[in-house]
Amino acid sequence: MIKKEWLEKGFIDEPIPENIDVRAEIKRLCKEKNAVIMAHYYTEGDIQDIADFVGDSLALAQKAAQTTADIIVMCGVHFMGETNKILCPDKKVLVPDLNATCSLAESCPADAFGKFVKDHPGHTVISYVNTTAATKAVTDVVVTSGNARQIVESFPKDAKLIFGPDKNLGGYINSITGRNMLLWDGVCHVHEKFSVEKILELKRTYPHALILVHPECKGPVVKLADKVGSTAALLKFARESTAKEFIVATESGILHEMQKSCPEKTFIPAPPNDSTCACNECNYMKLITLTKLYNCLKYEWPVVEVDPEIAAQAVKPIQKMLEISAKLGL
Ligand code: 13P
Ligand code: SF4
Repeated sequence: MIKKEWLEKGFIDEPIPENIDVRAEIKRLCKEKNAVIMAHYYTEGDIQDIADFVGDSLALAQKAAQTTADIIVMCGVHFMGETNKILCPDKKVLVPDLNATCSLAESCPADAFGKFVKDHPGHTVISYVNTTAATKAVTDVVVTSGNARQIVESFPKDAKLIFGPDKNLGGYINSITGRNMLLWDGVCHVHEKFSVEKILELKRTYPHALILVHPECKGPVVKLADKVGSTAALLKFARESTAKEFIVATESGILHEMQKSCPEKTFIPAPPNDSTCACNECNYMKLITLTKLYNCLKYEWPVVEVDPEIAAQAVKPIQKMLEISAKLGL
């Protein structure tokens, strides 16, 4: 029975019985229920460690489209669960805390974005995957930070394009492709906070460090980068590089996998402009805890639901993204 107080909270905080090994129990529940745990690189290290698959948003969508599990537990934010549900309508999709939203997705309400689209007729609409299902429903093709460049370049040079919601990512793609996409005015509250001054200060302390930057950061921060890319691309670069030190300007959860796969290298999280806060952490991603994951598997709740009419529209631009990515070998 799902309690009324859980429904109100959006998660289950029932304490884990003291006599159980929570990690073993999570694995047992997964086996019993044919469930798969997927996690984004920004979640806590203990969540990444227990997941069956850890990836960036592109890989998580690709994996969901292929899974044979009956239940997908998406340890990430709500739009990631929605994407999974849209791709796998017959599966049960769980997100351990429904409060795990995303400032970018919230910066682009479907009705306002739909009006923006209507006000600019004749444009193809490209939306970052960090959007709600309803916003995807008024989109022609979805992109992630891992394929945005290639998907934008798959359109003719003179195509009229709208890009939403991230104006930083959109501006970066405009700058490297020579396009002039119309940009929605949205930002990620975490990536927006990295500052040029703080990164340059760090660079003075670690002069040999390479600077890794996620394209959701502001343009001047992106300009400092030795490598700009999605979380998976930054990780790949760190693994393959001969450099020994890296300043990392993205959500600090990525350092867990970086440090795990390159124990001999040093990864320094770029500080936000106010170093007294932990604002290089995504407060939404960090809502996912082992207790909530365990309870969510036990009670098979919170479930992610997407209105079937919205899902029928939203699946088209997501499938288009997956098709183009497959064709391009991404
Ligand atoms: P990735 O596409 O790199 O996974 O980024 C997702 C995200 O939410 C970045 O803030
Ligand atoms: Fe959304 Fe930013 Fe958190 Fe990524 S880091 S999930 S864009 S709020």
